[in-house]
Amino acid sequence: MSITEEEVILNNGIKMPKLALGTWFMNQKDTTISAVKTAIQVGYRQIDTAQSYDNEQEVGLGIKESGIERGDIFITSKVDAELKDYRSVTDSIDTTLSKLNHDYLDLMLIHNPTPWSKALDVKSQYFDENLAVWQALIDSIKIGKIRAIGVSNFEKEDLDNLINKSGVIPSVNQMVVNIGHVPNDLIKFDQEQGIVTEAYSVVTHGVTLKYPQIQTMVDKYQVTVSQLCIRYVWQMGLPLWRKSTSLNHIKQNTMIDFQISDSDFDYLNSLK
Ligand SMILES: NC(=O)c1ccc[n+]([C@@H]2O[C@H](COP(=O)([O-])OP(=O)(O)OC[C@H]3O[C@@H](n4cnc5c(N)ncnc54)[C@H](OP(=O)(O)O)[C@@H]3O)[C@@H](O)[C@H]2O)c1
Repeated sequence: MSITEEEVILNNGIKMPKLALGTWFMNQKDTTISAVKTAIQVGYRQIDTAQSYDNEQEVGLGIKESGIERGDIFITSKVDAELKDYRSVTDSIDTTLSKLNHDYLDLMLIHNPTPWSKALDVKSQYFDENLAVWQALIDSIKIGKIRAIGVSNFEKEDLDNLINKSGVIPSVNQMVVNIGHVPNDLIKFDQEQGIVTEAYSVVTHGVTLKYPQIQTMVDKYQVTVSQLCIRYVWQMGLPLWRKSTSLNHIKQNTMIDFQISDSDFDYLNSLK
């Protein structure tokens, strides 16, 4: 089975394809439409966008041009991290649906617990504000605008706040996971709560990539660094997000039909 066909069942019973085309930094109209269309034709069934990526309209057009039925594609978007009150969020969901030209969204995430503009402000956890955003998402499910809801970049205390005060457990938590950066405690917490951890930035970079053993494994398995990194996260069992506008890369990122041995996997786990 191709990895594009693999799915995970979310905590509300909805099936989600495990591989997604990410679209961050895809803001050229034609390139985005073409990448989305190409990925769907290659077999991708989930597309990940966000209000702040400013490309929801192009994502909608790419899906339309692919010729695949709307119901066969899973679309994720994210509420702009700057929006932290109920009304702005419900309004923004309507705008997202209008830009996509669809009457429902499969999954909507809170993009970040803190507004990006306040990311360096450690004083506030935005607990009350995130609860208001969460309530707007819960209510949007009830009226059929969204099928599932989740969060992104949330730590345990941010999750505790939502879960304990609303009683509704997020379906997913999207976060950075790659060789050298595996937030094991948070992934374990997600698992215990029935939250699916989704991985982005799966390709390791910087110091980790310079370890000669990484190149040794690339040679041994006859794959690219990207494929080794994707396979590592895939073998952890996590759904993952990879952005590309290149047909070659879009295809290559689905071709991970090899097994990282237990000893190599343990070595990769040991990298910091
Ligand atoms: N929730 C969040 O806060 C958050 C944050 C960041 C990202 N994300 C999501 O995750 C997605 C992925 O983000 P990312 O940061 O992990 O970026 P990424 O997928 O690592 O993409 C970075 C670059 O890698 C290149 N690339 C892709 N496949 C390749 C391959 N096989 N070989 C060589 N280069 C390749 C792409 O360039 P080409 O176009 O030239 O292939 C792309 O510009 C985003 O698009 C977004 O949907 C979410």
